[in-house]
Amino acid sequence: MARRPRVIRTLVALDRAVDRFRRAKEMIALVPTMGALHAGHLALVRLARRRARRVIVSIFVNPTQFAPTEDFDTYPRTMRSDLDALARIGIDLVWAPPVDVMYSRGFCTRIALEGPAEVGLEDAFRPHFFSGVATVVAKLFLQCRPDIAIFGEKDFQQLKVVTRMARDLDTRVKVVGAPTLREQDGLALSSRNVYLTPKERAVAPTLHRVLAQCAERIAAGQPIAPVMADGRAAIEQAGFVVDYLEARDADTLEPIASPRREPKSSDRGAKPRALRLLVAARLGNTRLIDNIAV
Ligand code: PAJ
Repeated sequence: MARRPRVIRTLVALDRAVDRFRRAKEMIALVPTMGALHAGHLALVRLARRRARRVIVSIFVNPTQFAPTEDFDTYPRTMRSDLDALARIGIDLVWAPPVDVMYSRGFCTRIALEGPAEVGLEDAFRPHFFSGVATVVAKLFLQCRPDIAIFGEKDFQQLKVVTRMARDLDTRVKVVGAPTLREQDGLALSSRNVYLTPKERAVAPTLHRVLAQCAERIAAGQPIAPVMADGRAAIEQAGFVVDYLEARDADTLEPIASPRREPKSSDRGAKPRALRLLVAARLGNTRLIDNIAV
């Protein structure tokens, strides 16, 4: 078996390693994760591998993005098997700081967000989530000094928020989005899928199936509102409690005020606005999210 990657847990050691990469003018890609790695995470790591000479994977279950009612304490932690999986891909280092290294005593700074973080999707159900994500990702960028950072489209709103934050704070980090990896039956891979009972697991692919049906109907020109109403009914029928099912502007995540804009004769060749369908729904105690392009 390939050698396990080097795991760094202190800022001093991380600085030394990153200094070495930077001095050698080697391109660095960062893949931020909370561990419990599955094939979706590993696809991001492989993409990083192709795009940069050096790959850093961070594994940090970030307390500031969990509400007190959420699953921080029980979130799956599988460091040993994570390292085995990463060894098979061959990465340069794992940045796995303890909580008190990431958040030293007296820590009291948080990034405040607007724009794609305030559109009434995840933010409406997890009010502190994105400021926790943006704060830890900004810290990871400062700590690891990558040229690029890879994030999954699976968390589409997060990808938008982080992309904007990276630009707004002049981080010089290019945020790269990667497609969602799915099980054969369409269920998006997620660390939280382990929470599903066998019965729930059998129902869970409904989410992607319904999204795909809605996307197809909208792409064929059917009006958005009734298509989405049918979609919501189908998801509820399967036993989910729906937090949201929305068609949004794929760039801004703003609600679609009007039906798809038809290109005017004056802007010949212009494409209709790109849409993204996004869903969050609960099955028993497990909350699943997914999205699809139209
Ligand atoms: P985590 O849920 O561990 O996800 C890490 C990265 O893997 C994210 O960019 C996520 O979008 C991506 N990912 C998850 N499932 C995927 C799938 N099925 N296919 C492709 N990519 C997938 O997202 C977080 O951690 C945290 O919020 C983090 C950004 C690390 C900040 O704490």
